[in-house]
Amino acid sequence: MSKLIVANWKLNPLTASEAQTLAESINPISKHEVVLCPPMAFLNLVKYHNLGAQDCSVEIKGAYTGQVSAAQLASIGIDYCIVGHSERRMGQGETDALINQKIKTLLEYKITPILCIGYGTTVEQDELEVVDVLKQQIIDGLAEVDPKKVVVAYEPVWAIGTKKAASPEHAEQIALYLKTKHQVGKVLYGGSVNSTNAQSFFEQHHVDGALIGGASLLADDFNKIIEL
Ligand code: PGA
Repeated sequence: MSKLIVANWKLNPLTASEAQTLAESINPISKHEVVLCPPMAFLNLVKYHNLGAQDCSVEIKGAYTGQVSAAQLASIGIDYCIVGHSERRMGQGETDALINQKIKTLLEYKITPILCIGYGTTVEQDELEVVDVLKQQIIDGLAEVDPKKVVVAYEPVWAIGTKKAASPEHAEQIALYLKTKHQVGKVLYGGSVNSTNAQSFFEQHHVDGALIGGASLLADDFNKIIEL
């Protein structure tokens, strides 16, 4: 079954030529929908048929130094934009209210938001507490937004960049919850997805794909995933 596979390069690689080489090494043909999200500085330099941004401003235009707007992303043909990644929630203090504004702005410019939600610093985190926080992130993040128009990436914080992915069954359970209780259209799983475990997530009925960090920087690994 065809999935949505999103590569989150984060603040990598260091140079434009490395970014171009990496994008050129990714197989352009896959039965899945593959989206590369390079750093903003390289967005217009790398060549790939489906590109996404890692963040955007709530503002559209004007005196907002250093920001990049949804209107500008739309003008260079960007179809997807990640918002609310835990590295931005924690590192930049982004709130659900701010993330909600970004989602509304993106939808106005016909860019599909990929809303990241997730909680828990250890795998043992109390399940009810986790669901409580996810619920709040969804309710506030998607306030006055049609949930069918948004892709939600469920990423337990403890699984990001740790080589300890959640179990596929857990991802499926959360995906089912998001779809039945919150009418979310598409749900991705993210957090230490690699070429060895990706298939087990893709086999889950309600998991529509993956958001991939570390493994998306390794062309061989990433190609194995998109060729599954
Ligand atoms: P990871 O990152 O695949 O390196 O765990 C995922 C993410 O942060 O989106």
